[in-house]
Amino acid sequence: MKIKSQTALIHAPRQAPQFISTVQPPLYRASTIIFNNTDALFNRHWTDAYDYSYGTHGTPTTFTLGDNIAQIEGGKYCLLTPSGLSAINLVNSCFLSQGDEVWVADNIYGPNMEHLRNLETRYGITVKVYNPIDVDTFTPSANAKLIWLEAAGSVTLEFPDLTGLVKKAQAHNMLTALDNTWGAGLAFNAFDFGNEHLSMDITVHALTKYPSGGGDILMGSVVTRDQKLHHKLFRMHAIQGICVSGDDVAQVQRSLASMQLRYENQSKSALQLKDWLKQQTEFVQVLHPADVDSAGHVYWSEICKEGHSAGLVSVIFNTQYNMQDIRNFCDALQLFKLGFSWGGPVSLVMLYNLKDMRVLEHSHLQDGLLVRFCIGLEHPDDLIQDIQNALQHMHQQKIE
Ligand SMILES: Cc1ncc(COP(=O)(O)O)c(C=O)c1O
Repeated sequence: MKIKSQTALIHAPRQAPQFISTVQPPLYRASTIIFNNTDALFNRHWTDAYDYSYGTHGTPTTFTLGDNIAQIEGGKYCLLTPSGLSAINLVNSCFLSQGDEVWVADNIYGPNMEHLRNLETRYGITVKVYNPIDVDTFTPSANAKLIWLEAAGSVTLEFPDLTGLVKKAQAHNMLTALDNTWGAGLAFNAFDFGNEHLSMDITVHALTKYPSGGGDILMGSVVTRDQKLHHKLFRMHAIQGICVSGDDVAQVQRSLASMQLRYENQSKSALQLKDWLKQQTEFVQVLHPADVDSAGHVYWSEICKEGHSAGLVSVIFNTQYNMQDIRNFCDALQLFKLGFSWGGPVSLVMLYNLKDMRVLEHSHLQDGLLVRFCIGLEHPDDLIQDIQNALQHMHQQKIE
């Protein structure tokens, strides 16, 4: 058919051959996906592994990243979401119904707890809180449906008794969901862990952290090994219109190649910092799961690979330092920037008052204000120097 130039601009008549081999997979951006013919339109089915029917349901770009994340985490199926929190939300909205009981660790990522409290008020779901290092505090009723685990908790960094908790949840026919952001699929295999080869049912991962690695992309994932669970999540994902941008996916895909190197480097730097922090008199506790004095260390050492302990380390300041002192300390840091999140190239710091954050009493946590350091890719000697300078500045301000 002979077409006018205006139409030719839209239906580009010449296209280079489509298949070449490149280091990174090609990037597809799509809302509309064009069917070759009506057979293809009517024969499509949402349970097909790669259902190319509309942009929200996936493109080769999103399925490629999803497959890679599933593989890294030891699962089979993966759905991508616009943030880590939306991945958590997808699991909660998919599996919790009125009357259900859901269990969360007291050190769970705060917005997950907030989301569940919101469901509790609006939809009659009961939220119960357990101590992640004490299985006896987890006492599910007949209505218990789901337990959330996080290993390690991202502020106080207790490594939970995953084996004890998962075995008990399975004995009560509960679903197990792990926030796998800290381990990133590298520290341990959530779908085959410990001596008894236990498996989570579901993992969520804030790809915003280590997989993105740039501090500039928000994304999440939900991984499963069971097809039925995946299909339920897939349906909910589709009807809620959850989707991610192809451009963002391509950036995360590109960063995946260096994820393990970055994770190991940040783990190593955090260990060096943790050893140094332990020698400073300002802190009554240094929290890091690979440290023998940290709560849950024994569970970490049972399950995690040596040298894989992420880039987070927290300290609790002696109670002689008040909020103003801690603020002076944080404001004096130069390399550590004040900001939420972790897993990027720039080291971050955040201050917390645990009294506002915990429901249960925790004998393993001392009184005092908490500061969390998220180690970036700077040289650890410079980071130590930065903390040392800021501590000196804090003391100086106290004297003046
Ligand atoms: C442990 C953990 N899970 C989930 C999230 C949520 O990720 P996002 O920021 O992508 O919503 C965060 C973010 O800080 C986190 O620390």
